[in-house]
Amino acid sequence: MTDSAPNSGEFAADVAPALLRALTGARPERTPVWFMRQAGRSLPEYRALRDRAGLSMLDVCLDPALAAEITLQPVRRHGVDAAVFFSDIMVPLRLAGLAVRIEPGLGPVLDEPVRTPADVARLTARRYGEGEAGGAGARAVEAGVRAACAELGTPTAPGGGANLGERPLAGLAASRGSASWTPLIGFGGAPFTLAAYLVEGRASRDHLAARTLMHADPGAWDALMTWCARLTGDFIAAQVRAGASAAQLFDSWAGSLSPADYRARVAPYSALALSIARRAVSPTTGAPAPLIHFGTGTARLLADMRAAGADAVGVDDRTDLAEAIAVLDGAGPGPCPVQGNLDPALLTAPWEVLAPAVDACLEAGRAAPAHVVNLGHGVPPTTDPDVLTRLVARVHGSADWEATALAGWEAAA
Ligand code: CP3
Repeated sequence: MTDSAPNSGEFAADVAPALLRALTGARPERTPVWFMRQAGRSLPEYRALRDRAGLSMLDVCLDPALAAEITLQPVRRHGVDAAVFFSDIMVPLRLAGLAVRIEPGLGPVLDEPVRTPADVARLTARRYGEGEAGGAGARAVEAGVRAACAELGTPTAPGGGANLGERPLAGLAASRGSASWTPLIGFGGAPFTLAAYLVEGRASRDHLAARTLMHADPGAWDALMTWCARLTGDFIAAQVRAGASAAQLFDSWAGSLSPADYRARVAPYSALALSIARRAVSPTTGAPAPLIHFGTGTARLLADMRAAGADAVGVDDRTDLAEAIAVLDGAGPGPCPVQGNLDPALLTAPWEVLAPAVDACLEAGRAAPAHVVNLGHGVPPTTDPDVLTRLVARVHGSADWEATALAGWEAAA
């Protein structure tokens, strides 16, 4: 579709966005790119909005208008191929009635860690979205997704952005490319990463307490992990039913496990979460959302992550992309698209260093059936956002968009 499409009222001959084509194993005309943590502290407009709102991180996530606005900020600015819903893997814990907060600089903190079988029994009596606050929170998540999709558009309805200036509108147009709309990616935390926070009560280096419970009390572990899988599956499914057209399961801490433990005591629960997410149909595409499975430190776990039922696997920057592609070939039914894996540290290196690394990443990705460019982990808060915009232009091979990136956002705003 051309840029004139939103006014023509005709969408029948629409082409699917590059991200969705890549996630189903096709090679679109441009390689899609988005960034984990593309929304957030690297963007001055995010910091300004947080200051104005004066709300905690999780309260912002549960305000539909704010969550949608923050979701859209990086799309308008960078022209990335997808939005990722602004929320947190901890949100469903809050919506199941747990006392959880996110402390700046520290991360998630739970007032009552889950350590004993009695704690597990109390926890597993809870449900996603139950009670007055849980129900209102679940509805807020869905309203946030719908509000973001209203601007991103769908195959049958043009995107909005009526009140936006020229530069943000150019970002939305760059994001759509030859499609008429931009997909929204929903997400949730994988059961092990959620369980690690639940058992430890906060971030930890090696997740010792969680791994002790895993070995010492398999029954309690099974109950805890089954509960986490259903919770996160329900959270992702809710985002898909509200309009997300792809989703990602984040297993940030899976890298602390041996391959044998991962396979026997963790992967089956990630598979359960993915299967619950897969049952949801997106009203945007009329289809289930393709599912990306991502973790860090997972070079030895990639084949099992694929086998858990993922359509594509996200690769971190400690893993060689070519090796990952070779391992994933044959690890599941059919060819496996890959996502990744630029080192976030390169974002603050000179462009003369970053640009060849981007080209090398694209080159390595050609060995896969399809490739979605991303970082190997989230955008660091210290990143200069103009660098991210220029990176998108390089991946898309767009001289026009590079000129826009080089002009800088502030100059245009
Ligand atoms: O990627 C995106 O743009 C979407 C939003 C998103 C956030 N968290 C927003 C956020 C996503 C996908 C997440 C996932 C998440 N949250 C994970 C898995 C991915 C990963 O990074 O490994 C984990 C482990 C969490 C838990 C969590 N939430 C941590 C460790 C932190 C950082 C704490 C800190 O202050 O450094 C958070 C807070 C958080 N989640 C922020 C954002 C933008 C920072 C909040 C702020 O602006 O103060």
